[in-house]
Amino acid sequence: MADSIFFDSEAKTFSLNTAHTTYQLQIDRYGVLLHLYYGAKAVGRMDFLLTYADRGTSGNIYDAGNHREYSYDALPQEYPTSGMGDFRSPAFVLENEDGSVACDLRYQSHEIRDGKYALPGLPAVYADEKEAQTLEVVLTDDAARLTVRLLYGVLPENDIITRSAIIENDGDKKLRLKKVLSANLDFLTGKFDLVTFYGRHAMERKFQRETVTHGAKVIGSRRGASSHQYNPMMLLCEKNTTEHAGICYSMQFVYSGGFTGLCEKDGYDQTRWQLGLMDEKFSYPLSGGESFVAPEVILSCSTGGFSTLSQQLHACIKKHVCRGKWRDIERPVLLNSWEAFYFSFTGEELLGLADQAAELGMDMLVMDDGWFGKRDDDNSGLGDWYVNEEKLGGSLGSFIEKINEKGLKFGIWFEPEMVNEDSDLYRKHPDWAFVIPGRNPVRCRNQLVLDFSRKEVVDYIFEQTCKVLDCGNIEYLKWDYNRSIIDVFSHETDEQGRVLYDYILGLYDFLERLNQRYPDLLIEGCSGGGGRFDAGMLYYTPQIWTSDNTDAIDRLRIQYGTSFGYPLSTMGAHVSAVPNEMNGRVTPLNTRSIVAMAGTYGYEMDPRLLSDEERSEIKKQVAVFKKYAPLIHNGNYYRLSDPFADDYTAWLVVSEDGSEALLSAVITNERCNPLPHYVKLAGLAPNCYYYNDTLGQTYSSDALMSVGLPLPNVMNQYAAYQWHLTKTNLDDITVK
Ligand code: GLA
Repeated sequence: MADSIFFDSEAKTFSLNTAHTTYQLQIDRYGVLLHLYYGAKAVGRMDFLLTYADRGTSGNIYDAGNHREYSYDALPQEYPTSGMGDFRSPAFVLENEDGSVACDLRYQSHEIRDGKYALPGLPAVYADEKEAQTLEVVLTDDAARLTVRLLYGVLPENDIITRSAIIENDGDKKLRLKKVLSANLDFLTGKFDLVTFYGRHAMERKFQRETVTHGAKVIGSRRGASSHQYNPMMLLCEKNTTEHAGICYSMQFVYSGGFTGLCEKDGYDQTRWQLGLMDEKFSYPLSGGESFVAPEVILSCSTGGFSTLSQQLHACIKKHVCRGKWRDIERPVLLNSWEAFYFSFTGEELLGLADQAAELGMDMLVMDDGWFGKRDDDNSGLGDWYVNEEKLGGSLGSFIEKINEKGLKFGIWFEPEMVNEDSDLYRKHPDWAFVIPGRNPVRCRNQLVLDFSRKEVVDYIFEQTCKVLDCGNIEYLKWDYNRSIIDVFSHETDEQGRVLYDYILGLYDFLERLNQRYPDLLIEGCSGGGGRFDAGMLYYTPQIWTSDNTDAIDRLRIQYGTSFGYPLSTMGAHVSAVPNEMNGRVTPLNTRSIVAMAGTYGYEMDPRLLSDEERSEIKKQVAVFKKYAPLIHNGNYYRLSDPFADDYTAWLVVSEDGSEALLSAVITNERCNPLPHYVKLAGLAPNCYYYNDTLGQTYSSDALMSVGLPLPNVMNQYAAYQWHLTKTNLDDITVK
């Protein structure tokens, strides 16, 4: 492959080049690793950007002698530590055996190799030898006898750079890691906005853009999971950056547990941006010979605004994070039993639902919560993963056969990490749940979290899960996770500060084993909706239920926010009944379907309660989705409006070669005497024509992109449009 990583032995700079960007670091005269540049592709050494001045109270490292202008505090650091005079937020905090907190990392060696590094026990971007290169920079602190291996993966065609770090104790001292972040980016100058994605259950990943001011803005999750509250993804951009122009950067964590993200502007107007493991409740002991692996962060940079940045991330997630058979093929259109029946169903009723699914052209019936143990509500049964044959009216195997006979695939719900106190499992193994001895546990949905940092617990639940999966032809598993971790205590260790990290390793171990044993199984992640929607989960589950909120209008905002970092092929989205069960809103069936098509697509309702007319509409919708699914899931995605500010939400998917596009738009706020909404398209082939199959109209692509396409005004609340556009030769049509 063309060399994307270049070491200039004279300047001692490493340049990491992608198709459109350059990232540069330098080993300086003291062996300190400085960050020089990240931005549009650029050649040459960038150390001219550094300035030095006596910064008064900023300390000077000992080897700098009388050079008071040399201070860690004012220089852009690649992996800043605590205790050496950089008073900004550290990326790495080491507690030495004597209790002191200090770590001075200096360059030892480096290696550049083809291919992308992998991380033991953790998900990471993968690529073959031709698609990526790896840079490993080895830093050491001689006093602690500690090695830090900074890892960089460069995927030049994707404009992606990944970062991680492996920490090793080379001596015999008892060291303790108090904070280990995965990525740190220092900007010498610049006026930035920070974009974060905040929310709550049923209202995840709301877009928030704010000015980076002096002080630190911190987001994160203390919940043991990436959380509904903040997604482990952030963007940084210049003031004038828009969807289609300007420079912007992203950081995305390939990890599903707690995290912290920070953006800090210091007194010298420099900006520090960081992402990594949550350091609260984290205290990781590292004895001689042991090592610790920091989860990966995906970095990207675009000079073409947010849409290009998102497309870079989408391509990376689609082809270099998601794996397995389902990565490249269309997912089944499914009918999920949850909003149709909740816990209250019989096998007969499910078969009735399956008849509907088959009649309407869907591919799969998913039996959601309620099929196992004693589980008629959410107060009992979790942990008892054996089939309730009484409820099902027979064995699971024969039930699945009946579903398959209808021409449908079968899927099932699990929540492997949880246990109810009212369960056989808890009665037998109360110490397998997180409960702090001598304290009452905090309940959440009346359930507790199993201690997945213990191998025997993971092994047992894995065996139970396999027993169910081996009962019949199960082709889909919904992996749910419905509470946060609060009472962190493991009976297996004296080091409670390592448990949350080890828990996530246990989770990944389980998921990896599941993927290996059932390579054809489609797993959909879920966590009370979208409470664990992250690149870590996507390594094991190529789609994730985006939100428990299935209201089409709320979903527009949720899916908009999610789309900044994650492709449509990863977003679980279903059509549900109206009035919506969570907010009571009534939206047209057509609108609900168009919104769900910006995802994996399915239904979550009982179609028998609908009119014949509605059922035949659904049949058509399923057929339309199947026709456009390859375009929706493989095309380039563009956001065409701001759903928080505009009276409509529109988005577009354009095929790679520009030959076709699918425009979707929903009017979210109707006005009297309305003005037309001109939807400006993007990403079409320039200087040509596109034909609208639905309206039978032809448009100039340049006019569509510079002025826009007016949406019709109709007297219908929440009207929606979906138009398929085909690139057309002028000779083939009559254009007046
Ligand atoms: C969570 C999920 C729902 C459903 C229920 C079942 O809330 O997000 O989709 O599966 O659990 O209890």
